[in-house]
Amino acid sequence: MCGIVGAIAKRNVVPILINGLMRLEYRGYDSAGLVVVQSEQLERVRSTGRVAELEQKSANTQGSLGIAHTRWATHGIPSERNAHPHISNNQIAVVHNGIIENYEELRTELTARGYKFNSDTDTEVIAHLIHSHYQKGNLLTATQKALAQLIGAYAIAVVAAENPQQFIAARKGSPLLLGVGNGENFVASDMSALLQVTKKVIYLEEGDVVDVSLDGYRILNEKGHEVERPIHISELNNDSVELGQYKHYMQKEIFEQPQALANTLESVCNSQSLVPGIFGAEANKIFPQIESILILACGTSNHAGQVAKYWLEEIAGVPCSVEIASEYRYRVSVANPKTLVVTISQSGETADTLAALNHAKASGQEFTLAICNVPESAIIRQSKLRLLTRAGPEIGVASTKAFTTQLAALFLLTLVIAKTRNKLTEEQEQTHLHELRHLPAALQKVLALEPEIEKLSEQFTHKHHALFLGRGVHYPIALEGALKLKEISYIHAEAYPAGELKHGPLALVDEDMPVVSVAPNDALLEKLKSNLQEVKARGGQLYVFADADTHIKTSEGLHIMQMPEHAGYLSPILHVVPLQLLAYYVALQKGTDVDKPRNLAKSVTVE
Ligand code: F6R
Repeated sequence: MCGIVGAIAKRNVVPILINGLMRLEYRGYDSAGLVVVQSEQLERVRSTGRVAELEQKSANTQGSLGIAHTRWATHGIPSERNAHPHISNNQIAVVHNGIIENYEELRTELTARGYKFNSDTDTEVIAHLIHSHYQKGNLLTATQKALAQLIGAYAIAVVAAENPQQFIAARKGSPLLLGVGNGENFVASDMSALLQVTKKVIYLEEGDVVDVSLDGYRILNEKGHEVERPIHISELNNDSVELGQYKHYMQKEIFEQPQALANTLESVCNSQSLVPGIFGAEANKIFPQIESILILACGTSNHAGQVAKYWLEEIAGVPCSVEIASEYRYRVSVANPKTLVVTISQSGETADTLAALNHAKASGQEFTLAICNVPESAIIRQSKLRLLTRAGPEIGVASTKAFTTQLAALFLLTLVIAKTRNKLTEEQEQTHLHELRHLPAALQKVLALEPEIEKLSEQFTHKHHALFLGRGVHYPIALEGALKLKEISYIHAEAYPAGELKHGPLALVDEDMPVVSVAPNDALLEKLKSNLQEVKARGGQLYVFADADTHIKTSEGLHIMQMPEHAGYLSPILHVVPLQLLAYYVALQKGTDVDKPRNLAKSVTVE
C-alpha cells in the first residue's frame, strides 16, 4: 500500500526521499512522486514507473524540505496525474496513505467554491481543504481544520511553498512514524525507510498531528493538546533489509526461517516451563477465565489461524473459531465476553484486522491478544496481550517467515492455554518444548530440498491451473501453498481437503492439472493415500511432499519429494516450506516480479 517519506534537513533531501521510497517499494505501488520546497516554489516530479525512474527524473531536483510517496491506486487509475503529491494552487502539497470516505461530498463542495481538480483521487480534496484554511504561517492550524472535516483513514505529510522551515504530518487509521535526527527530522510509513538517516523513532498514535522543523517537532493529540511520545531506538539494521547473497527477498526470507523461528522461540526455549506471562502481565488473570477463542486475520495470517484451530481444540480442548477479518467486521455475531479474541497480523496495520478487533471489542469482548511481527503497530497497541514474532522485516509481498513464526507463536499459545486448563502434563510440556527447540534444525533439512524443487518447478511453468490437497491440520497448509502459487506466479490454484475431492473438484482432474499434496505421516495418512489413488486413477499428475516414514513410492504419475521424519504437531511448519519454494521457483521460471507481484500490496492499510 502507499508509502510516505518526508524530510527536513540542512542538506539536499532528494536522495533521502528516493532511498526511503526504495525501502518502501516492497509495500506495493504503481506510481511514485515527490515535492521539494525551493525558493518559495513547489517543485514536483512524478512517475508511473519504478522509484528508480523517479530517481532519474529528479536528478536535477534539490531542496532541503520535501515529501514523497509511492501510490497503490484506490481512487483513479495508476497514472502520472493521479500520482502524489497533490498540489493546491501552487501553495500546498500533500501525500496521503488511506481512504477518505467523504471525498465526493467534499469535492462537490470545493468545486462549488472554485477549486479545480486535476486528478481522480480522494487525496486532492485534502490539499484543497488545507489550502482553503491556509494563510501564511498557519500550516498547522489549516491542516488541523482540514483533518476535522475528513471521514476515513489517513497518514499524510503536508508542505507549503512559502514555508521552507516546516512540514506537518498526521495519522489516523494508517501507519506513520517520526524519525528523529540530529538537526534534521523525518516521517515515514515504516522504519525501513529511515534506517539510512536515524534509528530514533516515535510511533505516532491515532489522531496525532506533528509539526516538524529542522531542530524539533511538536506532537498534538486528537484533542489538539501537546503531548510527549517516547523515543524508541529501532532494532532494525540495514542488513535486515538488504538482499545480500539472494536473488529476491522472498528467497532470502524463506531461508531466514530457521533463524526467525529460533528468535521467536528464544525466550521460551531457554526456559524449563511455559508461563502465561510471555503474552503480557495480564495473561495470568485473563487465561483462566477463557471459555473459547476467536481468531481474526486475513490471507496468510488467516491460514495460520486455521492451523491453530486444530491445535487449540485438540491439545488445549478449547473451542476455537477462525474468521476472515473483513467478513467478521460486518457480520452480526454472538459475542461472548469470555472469548479470547486473537488477531494475527504480520504488519499489525491491516485495516480489516484492526477493524475486526475493534468490532469484537465494541461487542463486549475485552480479552484481546495480538500475534504480530511489528512492535508498536496499531494491532499490538490496541490489544491487551501480545506475542511478538521475531521474524525481522518481511519485504517480499508473499508472506513466508511471518507465517511460520506465527505458527510457532500460536503453538506456544496452545500450550499455555492447555496448561491453564490442566490439559497438559509436565511430561507432555517437556516433549513439546523439546520439539520446538528442534524446529530450526528440522527446517534447515527441509530447505535442502531446494534444488529438487527448482527442478520440479519446470513441470508447472506452462500450466494454467493447479490443485493443492491436504487433510486435517495440513488442509490450511494446502490453502497456503495455493495462495503462494497464485499470488506470485499468477497460476490459478485451489486447495481442497483431500476427502472433499470426490464431492466435486475431482471433475477437474486430467493430465493437464498438476495436483500437489502434502503427506505427513499422521493419523489421516491412510485416508490421504486413498484420495491420492482417486487422482492417479483419473490420469492426474501428483506431486507429493511425503514424510520419510510414509512409504509412498514414486510411480507412474506420482512424484514423491522426501521430507524429513514426521514432526508431530509441528509438521505444518515444515510442510509449508517446500510449497513456498515451489511457488518461488515457478514464479522465477515464469519471469514474474516475485517480490512485488502485480496488483498486490504488502501492508493492506485500506479496506
Ligand atoms: C499473502 C499475504 C497476505 C497477508 C494479508 C494479511 O502472502 O502476505 O495474504 O497475509 O494481507 O497481512 P497481515 O499479516 O500483515 O495482517
